[in-house]
This record gives sequence, structure tokens and C-alpha cells, in this order.
Amino acid sequence: MIILGINAYHANASAAIVVDDRLVAAVEEERLNRVKYAAGLPRLAIQYCLDAAGVKLSEVDHVAIPRDPWARVGTKLRFAMRMPRFAIERAKVAARFGGIHEGLAAAFEIDPKAIRAQFHRIEHHRAHMASAYFVSPFDRAAVLSADGLGDFASTMWGIGEGARINVSGAVSFPHSLGMFYTAMTQYLGFWKFGDEYKVMGLAAYGSPSYLDGFRDIVSTDSPLGVRLNLRYFTHHKSGPEMTWKEAGETPLLGCLFSDYLEERFGPARKPEEPITDRHKDFAASMQACLESVLLENINALHQQTRSKNLCLAGGVAFNCVANGKILQKTPFEHIYVQPAAGDGGLSMGAAFAVRHEILGKPRSFHMEHAFWGPGFKASEIRATVSRSSAQNGGTHVAELNEDALLQTTAAHIAQGKIVGWFQGRAEWGPRALGNRSILADPRRAEMKDILNRRIKHRESFRPFAPSILEESVGEYFERNHPSPFMTFAYPVRASKRSVIPAPTHVDGTARLQTVSRDTHPLYWRLVRAFGDITGVPVLLNTSFNDNEPIVCSPQEALACFERTKMDVLVLGDFVLEKKPSGTSDGDISAELLGAKS
Ligand SMILES: [Fe+2]
Repeated sequence: MIILGINAYHANASAAIVVDDRLVAAVEEERLNRVKYAAGLPRLAIQYCLDAAGVKLSEVDHVAIPRDPWARVGTKLRFAMRMPRFAIERAKVAARFGGIHEGLAAAFEIDPKAIRAQFHRIEHHRAHMASAYFVSPFDRAAVLSADGLGDFASTMWGIGEGARINVSGAVSFPHSLGMFYTAMTQYLGFWKFGDEYKVMGLAAYGSPSYLDGFRDIVSTDSPLGVRLNLRYFTHHKSGPEMTWKEAGETPLLGCLFSDYLEERFGPARKPEEPITDRHKDFAASMQACLESVLLENINALHQQTRSKNLCLAGGVAFNCVANGKILQKTPFEHIYVQPAAGDGGLSMGAAFAVRHEILGKPRSFHMEHAFWGPGFKASEIRATVSRSSAQNGGTHVAELNEDALLQTTAAHIAQGKIVGWFQGRAEWGPRALGNRSILADPRRAEMKDILNRRIKHRESFRPFAPSILEESVGEYFERNHPSPFMTFAYPVRASKRSVIPAPTHVDGTARLQTVSRDTHPLYWRLVRAFGDITGVPVLLNTSFNDNEPIVCSPQEALACFERTKMDVLVLGDFVLEKKPSGTSDGDISAELLGAKS
């Protein structure tokens, strides 16, 4: 049985394919069309999933769509009367969903009659919940989904038991923890879609001095839920404006906060203005407020479910700082957050919801790793390398066996070089987890600035993340719970903060990736090889990109290597090293010395 999940006409458009009881492939459209957060119909992602499963669109049995026009229809109609412009926009989107069968046929240039699949609509947050619980290792777990808005709800919770999820409550529009966080992010001058994670990094630099004031903005409904003071917002009047035209465009979000927020907290920061202590304290306050509301909700969910296991999904589940605190401040002992916890994961969630809840099939799949995206044959990598070395005499190229490859790569990193690491299938979700990563030495405090100056060009307040052997987590961190998908931040042990200063954030935490020998053997061996050389089984791991979606193909990796000041590129079995006339070892040493002085 073949189930194709499609998140279409929505940010983070994506596709996933489930064949019998296994996930075969999943990818977000942005990796393929190279447009960050791409919306529209994910034609390339669908094509990749079909190819990975070795089937044609006409052979798919079920298509799962994570949107249900009939969900919360009363609320939708009530707000449609108040917000006619928003209602018209929604109606246009609904019409596209209504015609998705024909849209697919047109995109794939086939007769609509050739698509024999049955189409299923799964409510947005039910798809989120399914994306977490149905691929988790648990037979029974509390499940919570929280984001900005989807199918006119922002939060949903319940309990997963066997192959069912029983929903016990939800928060309807306009109340939304995700909308609160996005509105405050905009107030701080970060207007791009998806900028919330930047502000989470900024929060560590301030103190939550506005927290009392924030309690007037958002609070918890008893016993579970979220309540916004709508005086601070605009979305309940005009609708949350999110616009895009086609798959080739990043969504744009309209202003969500009202003048009253500025009356109470002073003028909003303009994007070009410097970040002051007031902004840092504002960011710290919004993070503390989110944590307070979320933890209260999660404690109440534990009271309801009495489970030790928790599954989280929705954009709020990417708040790794809050996730780390759930382990500390609630009775939950095991938490599962799959790597595409945001809207990209909806396609996969909808597909599993169809399999288990509609078709009644039992569960047997556990997502233990994130590598569901495109992979490339050795011959394709060889062809890419040969084209490069023919064109670029400034690069030294070597083909190595696995042992030599790992030893050479670890030695380069230990020498302070910045290494692009491209192996296997691309990661599912927004984090680079050791298959499309840029790696560096975590022991060098200067490495953060060097990476930013030479490759990443990010805001200086944003932290980099460590990958650590799962056997060593307790030695370096104050908590030991697995974090294979970089979705938890834990305090680094005080004695280890000076050992791995580059990925340790200003507040002493780090958003770690725990690396398992069983599920990610090649990367595990690389981290261990670095540990053998340095005594520190940790690598600094950041996404393989430069202000673009994470690279997907060998050609994109090579292009990023060539246009940035990356020192080394490991592409499959090949090691490409820029010769000293480009960026020399001397340059690196000078940078390290310069940064130290
Ligand atoms: Fe969502």
C-alpha cells in the first residue's frame, strides 16, 4: 500500500511517502527548488518521493492532505464575517485544495483520471500530532501540538494509545502561543518568515525584566490552553496575513502586533537599528513567558494522561530551550520530537494518520534517524568532483578509503580548518545532522566568529551547536536524555564550558545533537576520531549553506565550498582541500591569533 503525504499551498511545502509500514522518503520543497520555506505545490518533492519508492503517481493508493476545510467551520465562518479580506484569501486557498487532484495531474502532465488514489483530509494539528506520535518509540504517550495557526487552531493535545490518538482539547483562533512568539519577534525587528529561532538565541543575552508585563499579554487557560490579550494584536481583526504566489516564493507575514504593544513597551525596533539591552531583555522576557505557559500546559497534560512519555510537534516544538526545561520542570521522563516538527512534517504526519487512523493498520515504524531526503550515487559524486578538479587547479583532491577519510577529516578539524561534510541522504527537517553539515573545532572559542566571517554571515548572537557521542553526553551536559535531532538545549557542565566554548551559548547551554553508533555509524566514527585526536568527542556542527536552504546535491555542496572560505570539502569518499593560494593554513592561524589578541 502506497500513501503519499503532501503539504501544499502552505509554508514549508513538502512530500512524504509511506510504503506498507515504512517511511521511504520525505523532503521539503525548499531543498529542491532552493527557495527558503517554499510554499505552493511541492512538485519536485513529490517527484523525488515517487522516484525513491520506485512508483508513478498513478500507482499511489492514498493521498493524505494535512488540511481539513470542515475543521472548526463555525469559528471560520464567524471570523469570515468580521474579516472579509482574509476570508476571500482563505477561500482562494480552499479552492486550490479542492482542486488538488486536478492540480497534481496538471503538474505531472497526466490525465486526472490516471490518478486513482483516494484523497484524505487530515486536520492540521491532527497531522502534527500524528507526525510525532506515530513515528515515536512509544505505545502510549501524551501528545501536544502547538504553532501559530492551522485549520483555525493553534494548539491541540491528547493521548496516543496504540494506533490511535484521542484528542482531548484544542485552542482555537485567535489565541495562539506561536502567534504570540511571532508577534514579539516582529516587534524586535525580525520580520522574515521563520525568524523566531533567531530571537530564541538573543534571549540568552538578556534578563526577563518585562515578564510581569508579559503576563498581561499571554496566559494559560485553566487547566490547559492559551489566552491572548487581544489588545496587543491585530490578527483577530484583519486575519494573519500570509502571502505567497507560487512554489518559487518564500511566504511573507503581515504585522501581528498592535500600537498598544508599543504604548506599553516602547517603540518597536526597526530592522536596521542596533540591538540594545532593552531588546535583549524583551527577548528574554518573551522566551520566559513562552516557557511559563508551555510548562504549565504540559504539567496539566501530565495530570490528564499520567504518562511518562510526551510527543511534541508544531513550530513551538522547535524551541529547544523550552524543550530542555520540560525534562527539568515536569514529570515527563521521555520526550520525542521528530526532526521536521514544524509544518514541513505535516506531509509525513498526514500519511501516517491515514495509515493508522483511517485504514486501521497497526504501528511498527519508529523514526530513529533523519535521513529521508535525496542521496546520490558514488558515480554522481565522482562526476561532480572530476568536473571541479578539471576546472579548479587551486584544489587538491584525494579519494580515500573510509578509515583514511575519517582520520584525515578529523585531523583537518583538529587543526582548525572548516570542513564541509556531505554524506548519504539529506536530512528531513531544518537541522543539519551530520550528512549536510559544516564542521569545526568546538574547543576554539574564536571559531564562532571565524565561521560567521568566512561562511555563515549570521547575526553574532546566534549560537552554533555541538554534535556529541551519545556515550559522552552525561560527561559534558547536566542532562542525559537523547537529542538525536538537535531539538533540546541542556546546560553544559561548568567544568566543560571552557573545553567546548565555541558551541556553548552565553547562558551556558548548548543545543546538542547526540550521535548514536547504531543509527548514524559513519558520523559517530568521525566524532570519535576527533575525540581520539583531541580527547574531546564533540564537533561543532552547523548547516551546510550560506544564506540559502541547506545544500542537497553534490553540485550545490561544491558551489558553496567554492564561493565561501571553507577550507576542506568531504564529498562522499573524496577530500577536496583548497591549496594555500586560496585560504591557507597561515590564514587560519592568523585569524585564530587575531581573534585571541
Ligand atoms: Fe503547523
